[in-house]
Amino acid sequence: MEKLKKPIRKAVFPVAGLGTRFLPATKASPKEMLPIVDKPLIQYAAEEAIAAGIEQLIFVTSGSKRAIEDHFDKNQELEDELERRGKYDLLAMTRHIVPAGVSCIYIRQPVALGLGHAVLCAKPVVGDEPFAVILADDLIDGEERSCLAQMINVYEKQQCSVLGVEEVAQEETDKYGIVKSESLYEGLSRISSIIEKPAPDKAPSNLAVVGRYLLTANIFKHLEKTQRGAGGEIQLTDAIADLLKEEQVLAYKFKGTRYDCGSKLGYLIATIDYALQHPNLRDAFKTHLAGICAKRVKG
Ligand code: G1P
Repeated sequence: MEKLKKPIRKAVFPVAGLGTRFLPATKASPKEMLPIVDKPLIQYAAEEAIAAGIEQLIFVTSGSKRAIEDHFDKNQELEDELERRGKYDLLAMTRHIVPAGVSCIYIRQPVALGLGHAVLCAKPVVGDEPFAVILADDLIDGEERSCLAQMINVYEKQQCSVLGVEEVAQEETDKYGIVKSESLYEGLSRISSIIEKPAPDKAPSNLAVVGRYLLTANIFKHLEKTQRGAGGEIQLTDAIADLLKEEQVLAYKFKGTRYDCGSKLGYLIATIDYALQHPNLRDAFKTHLAGICAKRVKG
């Protein structure tokens, strides 16, 4: 009998982290609300999910993250004012941040016990379905289609968990979940082991998990048993290591560019790249950058 195919309709956004690397900017407002040019990181992540066919956005939040709920909610006062001023483009843009047919659900993560724990908090809403996990501070500019859409394409053919991966410098393995895998074909490999943040000399490879996961619901029973691991947190990586013992998990090298917006340098690079693509800004910004570079070279 053919395996029952379940589409991926739900995406979990763990957004309860403190964002200490961006203090004081993140003292009173969530790091996921930091803008790249004019759009907050969490909106890029939500748009990537929606473009890939996701219908339910599940945010795992904490006390200081109300701005995220407000961002995806209707703002009648703003809409009335934009209408009164005849700013119809801005009005349409504000109204369609969450398109019809897509819903937002918020769950609190009561204690900051790590990514694995945050994902487990979403279990009552995800239920028995495969789902996506998106970490908004990994901003991915997909080639032709978004990273999540590329991964869902793989999922539809393979019907198993798929992790987005990319090669990183060997000295950076201690920032990521690192996989060991056997190549199936160009860009796709079967994971044989996975480890959270190994030291460069202990890492089984330099293939790092980026903040995109498609997981079967079986992950929850492993998360329920997962003990605190690296950094004293309940790690999603450790639950995936257990899942591997009973089902196939694939690593997919997405096509596109990832920006590590959890770091200041990555955030700045993303800001510059996106500004250089922005239809209203790119020409003036390019001229400004060229001016700065010429000055620096002379100096
Ligand atoms: C998390 C995961 C790690 C993954 C990374 C991707 O780490 O635990 O496995 O490689 O995201 O950005 P964090 O960056 O939250 O420390």
